[in-house]
Amino acid sequence: MSDKTPSHDPRMAAFVDGLMSRMTLGEKLGQLNLVTTNIPIEQERADEIRAGRVGGMLGGLFPCSFGVNGPAGLRAVQEIAVTETRLGIPLLFGYDVIHGHQTVFPIPLGLSCSWDMRHVETAARTAAREASASGVNWVFSPMVDIGRDPRWGRIAEGSGEDPYLGSRIAEAMVHGLQGDALSDPQSVMACVKHFVAYGAPEGGRDYNNADMSPQRLYDVYLPPFQAAVAAGAASAMMSFSAVNAMPSHADADLLGKFLDGVLKVSDFDGIPEMIAHGLGDETGAIDEADPLQTLSERALRAGVQMDMMGKGYISRLEGALAAGRVTMEQVDDACRAVLETKYKLGLFADPFARFDETRVARDLKTPENRAAARAAAADCCVLLKNAGELLPLARTGTVAVIGPLADDHKNILGPWAFQGDPAEAVSVLDGIRAQGVAVTHAKGANFTEDRRMVELLNFAGTKVELDPRPPEAMVAEAVAAAAAADVVVAVLGEAAEMSGEAASRMDIGIPENQRDLLKALVATGKPVVLVTMNGRPLTLPWEAEHVPAILVSWFGGSEAGNAIADLLFGERAPCGRLTTSWPRHVGQVPLSYDRATTGRPGNPAEDPGKYTTRCYLDGSSQPLFPFGFGLGTTSFAYGPVGVDKTELGPDDRLTVSVNVTNTGRRAGAEVVQLYLTDPVASQVRPGKQLRGFEKVWLEPGQSRTVSFALTTRDLEFHDAQLRRVWEAGKFVIGVGPNSAELDSVTVRWNKG
Ligand code: NOJ
Repeated sequence: MSDKTPSHDPRMAAFVDGLMSRMTLGEKLGQLNLVTTNIPIEQERADEIRAGRVGGMLGGLFPCSFGVNGPAGLRAVQEIAVTETRLGIPLLFGYDVIHGHQTVFPIPLGLSCSWDMRHVETAARTAAREASASGVNWVFSPMVDIGRDPRWGRIAEGSGEDPYLGSRIAEAMVHGLQGDALSDPQSVMACVKHFVAYGAPEGGRDYNNADMSPQRLYDVYLPPFQAAVAAGAASAMMSFSAVNAMPSHADADLLGKFLDGVLKVSDFDGIPEMIAHGLGDETGAIDEADPLQTLSERALRAGVQMDMMGKGYISRLEGALAAGRVTMEQVDDACRAVLETKYKLGLFADPFARFDETRVARDLKTPENRAAARAAAADCCVLLKNAGELLPLARTGTVAVIGPLADDHKNILGPWAFQGDPAEAVSVLDGIRAQGVAVTHAKGANFTEDRRMVELLNFAGTKVELDPRPPEAMVAEAVAAAAAADVVVAVLGEAAEMSGEAASRMDIGIPENQRDLLKALVATGKPVVLVTMNGRPLTLPWEAEHVPAILVSWFGGSEAGNAIADLLFGERAPCGRLTTSWPRHVGQVPLSYDRATTGRPGNPAEDPGKYTTRCYLDGSSQPLFPFGFGLGTTSFAYGPVGVDKTELGPDDRLTVSVNVTNTGRRAGAEVVQLYLTDPVASQVRPGKQLRGFEKVWLEPGQSRTVSFALTTRDLEFHDAQLRRVWEAGKFVIGVGPNSAELDSVTVRWNKG
């Protein structure tokens, strides 16, 4: 636990008991009420606080983007809670701090591609320091939803498709956000979300339900939550969707099993939304005149302790108690959870500790924060192709920097950067100019010419502005710039709002009009480097065939332009690796490297392998770029995979080693990956599973032996009774640079 205050701290228990003994039922229910606000606060909200009817406030996506760019605004609200209410209980201030606060880091999917837990923890710690300097004490992060369907826009907010890597990232995020103690004014409470399997919506459509085997739920979707909770995550947010027919807001079983001791909060309106789900109470009955009554009761009984904007806890639970449909114990448990959280955050000791004006200069947007964001933004970029060693570029000649994202300062911040200031973001054009090379620029295309999509993109968040010129005129201008230059850097991809919440796409390629631009640029015969900005895996079959260099930069944040320029000109070596499989075609999704073996797996040598699972009549079933893939600007050679034993018993630890050498001319980092296969089991198992990775930095000619330790814990899976088991027998250990290029050894693990 990173929170040093034990959950059964007797002083905390005495304090909270004492406080609760003085609280009215209305005040207790007030603690469960989480509402939005504007700053300055509206009269109505202020009155609710004064009446003890509010436990916490949130800002972020919705109209409630409260101005937390400094402590002043929220301090005034906390003062009302502390000085103008009967009991002076301070408020929780929650905010969507997803990838940085004012210094914006790469989106989580990008950050995960660094495979570097130092970057992850630093990004989270920096965000915690900045957000807490603005009075925020709670952030709705980390999002640990496993994502395997790139149509789903919120894949941008998670760490990709793999539960093992996702768990390590979840731990690092929690450590970074909560620090050594929640009571530290530089720490914020983490909120792990969205419990659970929100990342598996059918059809990739946001908020859609999921149906899956319990084994998959337990082996793939739950582990990052367990890791976050084990690392001390003090709160968790429910998911909007229903999994196996049960909305998480009513899932007493899973909430009880996995989130004990964690403050459980609904998602925005998640409790009333169960009405549209068609849910009644546990017997299927509903109060037809007041369905919110039934569902608010049910959510409380299931274990949801705070109601985000549902308004049912504050307005309906008194009646529920009187009617005996919820118990006083259930209300008290929820209230105690909120008050203990506030105690652990140090809010009772000093409700204004996070409102220290001197921290604005010390903690917000410091040069150190910017440097950390720049390093992370570079190391999360994934080089997918570099034909003829086009990268790094020479500093001679002229670079034509082209595309709707080339000089963009807004979209580059990504879809969850409410406090990032576009005026302080570095575009790719800015970054390349700062390298001291000659530059020309043309926009070349709009993000899209699809007017319906533009309308949807402009519904909320970063607006897309359309250049009124005909597409042909924009392309012609760009082609002229390319023809006059020595090399073209085409910065194409998604607008920020094309991924993130409520941003599912059916076609996950670069929008057509941008691809037309790219084709015209390639047709000039000039060498083209494609830099993509995107919140999801993209389908790039044409690009992979025709464009010599492709660098994926995600939405890299405040320093992305500098970071990309560092990579383009060799100031830094690209070292990111994909954390999702990249499909060739959207028809292949969902897609993950660990797909289970089938009875007709087919033989890759016999492609297309009719009558096998491999076969689509109209194309390959394999990803275009596999999980774990990424290039550098040097090359690495792997020695043979070594093991210290080939026969093991239950208590043994297996050491797997491999020697890796930088055989190229430049320094670089390699992510050495270890995968485990259980080829024969009592049930069908994944084809392979990541069980270790290490990122090593090697100078030209340098070698390093990388070692991994495995125990029977790494062999475990859930059986049909949901018991964690491991089974004796053969195991294949594969080591290599990505999930598709492995050298393997076989060992035997015995039970006795
Ligand atoms: C809804 C989103 O699902 C959740 O992730 C977010 O934290 C809340 N809105 C609050 O903005």
